[in-house]
Amino acid sequence: MKVVRTIAALYAEKPEGTVGLVPTMGAFHDGHLALFRAARTENDVVIASLFVNPAQFGANEDLASYPRNEQRDARLAEKAGVDVLFAPGADELYPAGFQTWVEVEELSTLLEGEHRPGHFRGVATVVLKLFNIVQPHVAVFGEKDYQQLALIRRMVRDLHLDIDVVGAPIVREADGLAMSSRNRHLDRDERAAATCLARALGAAEECVAAGERDAAAIVAAATAELARELRARVEYVAAVHPETLRPLVRLDEDETTAGDVADRALLALAVWIGPTRLIDNRVLTVPAITCERRSA
Ligand code: PAJ
Repeated sequence: MKVVRTIAALYAEKPEGTVGLVPTMGAFHDGHLALFRAARTENDVVIASLFVNPAQFGANEDLASYPRNEQRDARLAEKAGVDVLFAPGADELYPAGFQTWVEVEELSTLLEGEHRPGHFRGVATVVLKLFNIVQPHVAVFGEKDYQQLALIRRMVRDLHLDIDVVGAPIVREADGLAMSSRNRHLDRDERAAATCLARALGAAEECVAAGERDAAAIVAAATAELARELRARVEYVAAVHPETLRPLVRLDEDETTAGDVADRALLALAVWIGPTRLIDNRVLTVPAITCERRSA
C-alpha cells in the first residue's frame, strides 16, 4: 500500500481499472474496515482518504482531541485491501485564499444539521474535493452516518457526478453499540450506558412490528427506553422519511404526496453519554400488509 500526501503524487499513481474511494478521518475500527472490504470486492483499485477535515467541526467540537494514529491506520488499511492511502495535510486541501463551498440546502439543516450548523457544508465540500481529486467510479459510505450518506447521494445527483455511491451497513459491537471513533472517550460506566441507543432503536422496531404507525408514538417508545438510562441526555429522536429526512406523521404515509405509502422510515437519534455525543439510526420497515391494505 502506498501512502501519498499530495494531490500531485496521487495523480502520478494513475490507477488502471475501476477505482473505489472510501473517505475517512482515520482512527479506524471494524466499521471503516468493512467499507474498505466492500470497495475491494467491487473495484480494481481501492483508495482510502485519511483527512481530519477542520471544515466540518464546529468551534466547540472535538477537532483538537480527534484521535490520530496514522501508522496504526495504515497497517489496518493495508490488511483490509487498500492500495493507496491519501493522507494530505490541511494546506493541501484548503490552501490560503480558499473560499468556495458546497451547500446541500435542505438536507444539511435537518437532524444533525440543526445541532451542528455548518457541519454538512464542511462534509459536502471536502467530499466533492475528494471526488474531483480521486475521480472514483464508486464511493463507499457507512449507514452509521445516514444523513451524510443521503446528503452525498443528493449532491451526486444534483451536480451530475458520474459516481456510484454505495451505502454499507452499520457495524456494531457484540452488545449492539455502533462502532465509532468517539466510543473510546467513554469510561467503563459510560460504555455500559451507551448500549441504550441500540436498545431504543430496538424498542421502536418492536413498536412498529406490533402494528404502531403513528410516528410520535414510535418516537415516544424509543425516548422512553433512553429515559431508563440515567446517564443519557437526549438531543433528538426523530422518525423521518428515509430520503428527504423530513419528519413523518405516520409511517404508512409519504410526507410529500398524501396518501402514498412510504414502506420505510428512518429512526435517527443523538444522545449524550457524559461528555460524549453518540448518534445511531435504524431503517424501520413497515410490514407489507399495510401497503396491501392501502393499495386495495
Ligand atoms: P469518519 O467518521 O472517519 O467515517 C468514515 C466512514 O466510515 C463514513 O462513511 C462512516 O459512515 C463510516 N462508518 C463509521 N462508523 C461506522 C460503523 N460503525 N459502521 C459502518 N460504517 C461506519 O464520516 C466521516 O469520517 C467524514 O465525515 C468524511 C466522510 C470522511 C468527510 O470528512
